Amino acid sequence: MDSILEVEDIHTYYGEAYVLQGLSLRLRGSEILGILGRNGVGKTTLVNSIVGFNPPRRGRILFKGEDITRLSSVVTVRRGMGLVPQGRRVFPTLSVEENLIVAERGGGRWNLERVYAAFPRLNERKSHRARQLSGGEQQMLAIGRGLMTNPDCLIMDEPSEGLAPIVIEDLWQTIGRLKAEGLSILLVEQNASLALKLADRVHVLSKGRIVFSGLPKELEANDEIRSRFLGI
Ligand SMILES: Nc1ncnc2c1ncn2[C@@H]1O[C@H](COP(=O)(O)OP(=O)(O)OP(=O)(O)O)[C@@H](O)[C@H]1O
Ligand SMILES: [Mg+2]
Repeated sequence: MDSILEVEDIHTYYGEAYVLQGLSLRLRGSEILGILGRNGVGKTTLVNSIVGFNPPRRGRILFKGEDITRLSSVVTVRRGMGLVPQGRRVFPTLSVEENLIVAERGGGRWNLERVYAAFPRLNERKSHRARQLSGGEQQMLAIGRGLMTNPDCLIMDEPSEGLAPIVIEDLWQTIGRLKAEGLSILLVEQNASLALKLADRVHVLSKGRIVFSGLPKELEANDEIRSRFLGI
């Protein structure tokens, strides 16, 4: 399949602050595209531009061939863009199950039963309030909620943030399974070595621009890019 998501030369601002300075990318069907870069380079701004929280002032975004540049986040999600936001942002006082149900967008393969099958831990804790969950469980809930919208494309913003290595290992297996089932994933990660384990291709961002694009093994072999832009 060709590209499910195409970002064409977008320029995004917060007021006067010029953050994304001409950024383009393509996410193909059933692949994981890694977006890497240090603090503050514009990773979340890219997510906000795509999803419709902060549309670009210039440039174009196509999703499944249709222009979504000016659409609100509600409409974008309804069209099949799933978001797992940075910091998880589950509803703390709602139960696990309520968090999942409020996100439900029918008509696809994902439903409560399948989310519980993918994340047995959520099933065990379905009547707990989200704020009672551990960080790893909350991340699973955030992903489960993203899946409940039955997305064709899932954007994950720093899923490993704040989680213990053993929890991340589990999470990475789950993300790998989602990809194997055909989901296209934009994986935003500050932790480059982790992203390299999953991604099919990667882009490295610096100051709102892409400074490197390639295969994980090409980035692994590029000491200059890794030390200048990723600090590894
Ligand atoms: N709501 C906002 N208003 C004004 N400036 C913002 C806002 N959000 C982010 N910025 C600025 O835009 C730039 C890019 O921020 P962004 O959150 O996209 O970075 P990031 O790569 O996601 O960083 P992190 O790895 O810390 O999540 C930063 O200079 C940041 O200070
Ligand atoms: Mg961010």
